Amino acid sequence: MKLAVIEGDGVGREVIPAALQVLDCFDLPIEKIPLELGLGKWEKTGQAITDADLEILKNCDCILFGAVTTPADPNYKSVLLTIRQELDLYANIRPLKPIKGIKGATGNTDFDILVVRENTEGLYSSIEEVGENEAWSKRIITRRASERIAQIACEYAAKRANHLTIVHKSNVIKADSLFLNTCRDVAHTHNVIHDAMLVDAMAYDMVRSPEKYDVVVAPNLYGDILSDLGGALVGSLGLLPSANIGEKQAFFEPVHGSAPDIAGRGVANPIAAILSVAMLLDWLNRPEQARIVREAVEKSVLDGIMTSDLGGKASTLELTDSIVSHIVSTF
Ligand code: NAI
Ligand code: MG
Repeated sequence: MKLAVIEGDGVGREVIPAALQVLDCFDLPIEKIPLELGLGKWEKTGQAITDADLEILKNCDCILFGAVTTPADPNYKSVLLTIRQELDLYANIRPLKPIKGIKGATGNTDFDILVVRENTEGLYSSIEEVGENEAWSKRIITRRASERIAQIACEYAAKRANHLTIVHKSNVIKADSLFLNTCRDVAHTHNVIHDAMLVDAMAYDMVRSPEKYDVVVAPNLYGDILSDLGGALVGSLGLLPSANIGEKQAFFEPVHGSAPDIAGRGVANPIAAILSVAMLLDWLNRPEQARIVREAVEKSVLDGIMTSDLGGKASTLELTDSIVSHIVSTF
């Protein structure tokens, strides 16, 4: 099993070492392949990711990724988009689940949402042009991509509360009708109870009544935005893990970015990256080890060991050490 490890930029360099400390608690047959990508590489070489990097990634089974900083250069193509598109990691799975002992922005801890975000098209098609007086980005919705994201969303729904909410804006954006209707057909075929929400109303309702939702399937941009909103509901962006799943490979990363405002201070919350390792363990068919990681996170929080985004005083290292010691105590 080959795991590419990309710390990236900013807090990626702090939370990925923490995540590896957790992964290393388990004696797994994993060969780690470190890879430098992102702004740091771009500044040194003029490229944030090369064809050779992509070849290495294509030959790995899975990837653990921190975050990268986007430079203000119109010619820069996002590293993340490149990897997601080149490896066809079409499903971005983002659980929004409260952690015992942490209250989010609304105080509501009674919800368990799984955002399933289409990850290869929509407004992230990279087909765009920026001129002096006119700029445009092409938004693509295809039946094939809508079908496969709806299928994976229905598979998750079947293992959960069997309820799918399809997020769209087809009253204004015609392309969304194809997404909505395709998702409806797939849900119908899978016998999944389904409804639909306009994305703006969805943002409002997720804040007011998140407990109403189970699996939420959305085109690329809406899924991106709603999951950050979920970060506030759960308590911090520093808590949200994610998986980008393809046919054969998968890529695990915290939802958050490189957080330049706190990078280099040793205060970044490592939980999103550590819970991304739990998702990696699930993908490797090791649910027991994934459970141990999630419980260790919860125990550390209940011990009051939290980083400043959660109102605590612990450093990245102190919280990681605490989580590791809870894991080790189960052996
Ligand atoms: P961000 O997610 O980096 O930060 C948003 C807010 O959340 C900031 O206040 C930050 O301090 C906080 N935050 C994020 N991660 C945290 C953690 N682990 N612990 C505690 N607090 C945390 O988003 P922002 O500021 O919009 O973007 C910064 C850079 O990251 C940009 O260059 C952006 O393009 C890039 N980015 C990269 C992503 C990736 O590589 N997956 C995803 C999102 C943004
Ligand atoms: Mg985002």
